[in-house]
Amino acid sequence: MTEEKEAARGRLRQLREEITYHDHRYYVLDQPVIADAEYDRLFRELLALEEKFPELVTADSPSQRVGGAPLAKFATVPHSHAMLSLENAFSEAELRDFEERLRRFLKEAPQMTYVAEPKLDGLAVELVYEQGLFILGSTRGDGRIGEDITQNLKTIAAIPLRLQGVAPDRLEVRGEVFMVGAGFKKMNEERAAAGEPLFANPRNAAAGSLRQLDPRLTARRPLDFYAYGVSDPADLAGCATQGELLGRLGELGFKVNPLVRRCPTMAEVIGHYRHLLEIRTQLDYEIDGMVVKVDSFALQERLGNKARSPRWAVACKFPASQATTRLKAIDFQVGRTGVITPVAVLEPVVVGGVTVSRATLHNEEEIKRKDLKLGDMVLVQRAGDVIPEIVQPITDLRTGAERPVAMPAQCPSCGHGLVREEGEVGLRCVNAHCPAQRLRSLVHFTGKGGMDIEGLGRKAMEQLFAEGLVADLPDIFAMQAEALEKLDGWAAKSADNAVQAIAASRNVSLARFLAALGIRHVGEVTAELLEERFVTLENLMAASLEELLTIEGIGGQVAGSIRDYFGDPAVQMMLHRLREQGVAPRRSTVGGQGELPLRGAVLLFTGTLASFSRDEAKEIVKKLGGQVSSSLNRKVTHLVCGDKPGSKLQKAVELGIAVLNEKEFQQLIS
Ligand code: IVH
Repeated sequence: MTEEKEAARGRLRQLREEITYHDHRYYVLDQPVIADAEYDRLFRELLALEEKFPELVTADSPSQRVGGAPLAKFATVPHSHAMLSLENAFSEAELRDFEERLRRFLKEAPQMTYVAEPKLDGLAVELVYEQGLFILGSTRGDGRIGEDITQNLKTIAAIPLRLQGVAPDRLEVRGEVFMVGAGFKKMNEERAAAGEPLFANPRNAAAGSLRQLDPRLTARRPLDFYAYGVSDPADLAGCATQGELLGRLGELGFKVNPLVRRCPTMAEVIGHYRHLLEIRTQLDYEIDGMVVKVDSFALQERLGNKARSPRWAVACKFPASQATTRLKAIDFQVGRTGVITPVAVLEPVVVGGVTVSRATLHNEEEIKRKDLKLGDMVLVQRAGDVIPEIVQPITDLRTGAERPVAMPAQCPSCGHGLVREEGEVGLRCVNAHCPAQRLRSLVHFTGKGGMDIEGLGRKAMEQLFAEGLVADLPDIFAMQAEALEKLDGWAAKSADNAVQAIAASRNVSLARFLAALGIRHVGEVTAELLEERFVTLENLMAASLEELLTIEGIGGQVAGSIRDYFGDPAVQMMLHRLREQGVAPRRSTVGGQGELPLRGAVLLFTGTLASFSRDEAKEIVKKLGGQVSSSLNRKVTHLVCGDKPGSKLQKAVELGIAVLNEKEFQQLIS
C-alpha cells in the first residue's frame, strides 16, 4: 500500500505540473499545445488518483478549482496596505492638469514616463501568495478590510494557484476580475431560458458571481482576471518601474492586459486614450476608461498618497454610457407567435461611443410603469453588449406637447385584428399567414433554439426572406449555393458551407425538429415527450387528441395546440414538401421503452446539491432517459431539493409533485 501510495504521490506531482502548465498555456497565454481530449485524460487521471488517496490532495492541485463546500458567510480580512481608489479625469485637458500637478508637487519638471492601462470594468481583488502558493484572496471592501473569497477566486483558471519560477516569500497581487462579453451573453441566455433574472451588465454578473457563497456556482461563471499591481513593489526585488512590474507578473504566471502601453510623454498617453476609446467596443470585455500611472516607483514614492487615492495615478474615464434624447415614436414589432413588442424609436444619440436609435420596451406594462409619453426627453443607458434601454422620462422637461402612447388595434405587419388572451400581458396577432410572424418563425427554425443551422442566423434569414429566396421552411432545404452566392455579403465558400449545414440538418432528431417548428406550447420538454411516444413525425401527425392526452405531462391546452397545428392543411402541405426535400426527423435516443430507468420522468432541480453540479445532475438524468424541466409546471414528476430550495418546494407540495432530497435522488439514479 505504501509503495502504491508513494508511486501515486510521484504521479500526482507530475500530473499537477503538467495540468498547471497546460492551464497556463490555455487560459493565460491563449496558446494551447495539447488537444482537449488529452487534457481531459490527464485531468481524469488526477481526479481518480486523488479520490483514491484523498490525503495526497494539495492546495495547488488543479482539482481544487472546482469549488469546495458552500460558506455560511464570508470572513473579513484586513489588507496589509490599503487598497486605494483613483481620482478621475474626464477629458484630455484634465490629463494635462494631472501632469501639471505632478510637476508642481515634485517642484521640478522631470521628463516623466507613464504607463497607460485599460481601466477594466470589473472588481478589484487582492491575491496573497506565500512561498509561491495562493493562500488568500479578498475583495477590496472599504479599502482597508475586504471579504475572504479565496474559494471563489480559486475557480478562476487565469489565477495561478502556484506562482511560476522563483517567487518571493510573500506577495500580494492586485488586479481585476471581470466577465468576458461572450460568456456574459451566453450566461444571460441560459438564465433567460431557465426563467432566472438577468444580469444588467458584465460587471454586475462578475460581482454576483464572486459573492456566491457556493463556490461551485462561481466555478460555472465565465470569469477572467488581469493583474495590474502589487501591494508593495519592494516585494519584487529588481523591479523599479510599473512597466517592469507588469513584465514580472507575467513571468510569475499572471495574465497582464496586452493593451498596456509605456508612454514617454503625456502626448503619447493621450494618443493611447484615443486609441482605447476607438477600439473599446471591439473588445470582448468592458473597459470604462484608462488608468495612467507614473512609471517610476521612486517617483511614485515621492508623490505618495492622498486620503483615498495615490497622487501618482489617475483614471481617465470614457464619456458616460448614459445620455438623454427624445423619444420620437414607438414601433410595434411582431414576434414569432404573434406577440406585439413595443420598441422605442429615439433621436439618435451617442451612448458610450455607440450611436443608439432604438431601445426595447418589452411590453405595454413597461410603458405604463415607466410613464413614457411620445415626445418625452428620456434617459437612455447602454451597458456594453446589452441592448440599450430607457431608464426614465425626464418629466421636468415636459412641455405639455407630449402625447400618450396608444397601443395598436391592428397588426402592423398584416393589418389583422389583435387579441389579448387571458393571462397574457401582451397583444397578439392571430393571423397564421402574417408575414412578420412567418419571418420570425423562419429565424427561430434555423436559430439556436431550433435546428441551429450554421450560417443561417437572424441576419441571413432576414436577407433571404427579403430577397424572396425563402418564404417558408421547405424553401430552406431547396436552397442552392449558386443562388446564395449572388447575394450581397455572400461568397462561394460561405454559400457552400451554409448549403452543407442545411444538408446535415436533414437527419435531425424529432424532438429538435418539433421544437424548431415553434408549435404553440411545445417547448423542448414537450417535444421530447412527443418524440419518445411517437418515434416518427408520421405517427405524431396521425395521433388523435385522446391519444395525446394519455401522455403524462401533456394537458388539454398543449394537446389542443398540437392537434390544431397538424390538422391545418397548410401545415400538412408544408410538412409533405419538407419530406420531399429529404427532411426525415426521427427518434434520437437509443434503447427501447422501459430500458432506461428514468423514462417518462421529468425532474426539476431547486437549491444547491452537495455532490453534483446542476449540469452534472442534468446530464445524469438525461442519460437515464429522463427529462429536466426549467420551471415548475404540471409536467414535472419529481422535484429534487438541494440546500436552500426556495419557493418551488412549497409550490410542488401544493401541486402534489414527488419531492426528493439529495439522498433520495442518488437512490433514484443508482
Ligand atoms: S490601479 C492605487 N489599474 O479602478 C491604484 N486600477 O478606482 C488603484 N481598475 O478599484 C488601482 N483597471 O478596480 C488600477 N489597470 C488598472 C485598473 C484599475 C481597473 C479599477 C480597480 C480600482 C478602481 C480604482
